[in-house]
Amino acid sequence: MTPELMEQNARHAERYLAAHPGKSGNTESGGREAAFSRLAIPGEVDTTHGRILYLEDVNVSFDGFKAINQLSLDIAPGELRCIIGPNGAGKTTMMDIITGKTRPDSGQVFFGSTIDLLRYKESEIAQMGIGRKFQKPTVFEQLTVFENLELALKTNKAVTASMLFKLDSTQSDRLAEVLHTIHLADSVSRQAGYLSHGQKQWLEIGMLLMQDPKLLLLDEPVAGMTDEETERTAELFLSLKGKHSLMVVEHDMSFINTISDIVTVLCDGSVLAQGTLAQVQADERVIEVYLGR
Ligand SMILES: Nc1ncnc2c1ncn2[C@@H]1O[C@H](COP(=O)(O)OP(=O)(O)OP(=O)(O)O)[C@@H](O)[C@H]1O
Ligand SMILES: [Mg+2]
Repeated sequence: MTPELMEQNARHAERYLAAHPGKSGNTESGGREAAFSRLAIPGEVDTTHGRILYLEDVNVSFDGFKAINQLSLDIAPGELRCIIGPNGAGKTTMMDIITGKTRPDSGQVFFGSTIDLLRYKESEIAQMGIGRKFQKPTVFEQLTVFENLELALKTNKAVTASMLFKLDSTQSDRLAEVLHTIHLADSVSRQAGYLSHGQKQWLEIGMLLMQDPKLLLLDEPVAGMTDEETERTAELFLSLKGKHSLMVVEHDMSFINTISDIVTVLCDGSVLAQGTLAQVQADERVIEVYLGR
């Protein structure tokens, strides 16, 4: 973040706090004095500086072990960024930090230029438009494909309110579009428990898409998929690129080869190399720690 931008944000925060005397400028993460940010308004992410996500000098230690070490990285709006690296490199921990599951010891994490993610809780970050897919699919097996997607729209509503919930026409159109995108239009009435592993993964991605996330974080999305499912997932991700920004962690190099523009290699909690897959594959340090000889 530039000094001008920091100053601009600080001024904005000061004005906000002056107008709202009850609010504190301190954050839940311990009153960080720097990096005042505009309070998040759902649907508003300022990407005028060309970044949807921005991490700078982030550090996290677990019992003295540095899992994330001076990590800096940014992602452009609409980009599909691939993250690779050896086991224990910190890839999942990085996603934990972005989504508010883990608090870093130091560093900056911004969504767009103005939203300081370290000031928000996990649930608030999800509501701002950062969707996350864990490795294991977590669809509701007893419900149909349709019901799973419908349910994704009402995660924050009380159970009784949910039962009375009816989709409006915009939501119905969205559901139809998502069904098509995730290749499950022919299985709309099928119980999710009967879907293949790959189809369950797509359904879960569909559930995230129902909330129209700006940024999607996907951790090892093709693990356990057949070759054909992996190919279809590559097509799916390529179709999402541009409309959403994506960060995809994978070990499957042929999948990475199909979908990647820029690949970031993480190792020991920081960026070891970055470039096209061909560039990072030719990097001696990457070969040494990850790809092997
Ligand atoms: N909550 C935690 N407590 C203690 N150590 C942790 C915690 N979370 C992660 N770690 C450690 O941090 C390091 C990074 O783990 P992480 O899961 O982020 O790696 P990864 O790059 O996702 O690896 P993989 O490719 O195996 O999924 C590992 O050494 C891990 O054991
Ligand atoms: Mg991991």
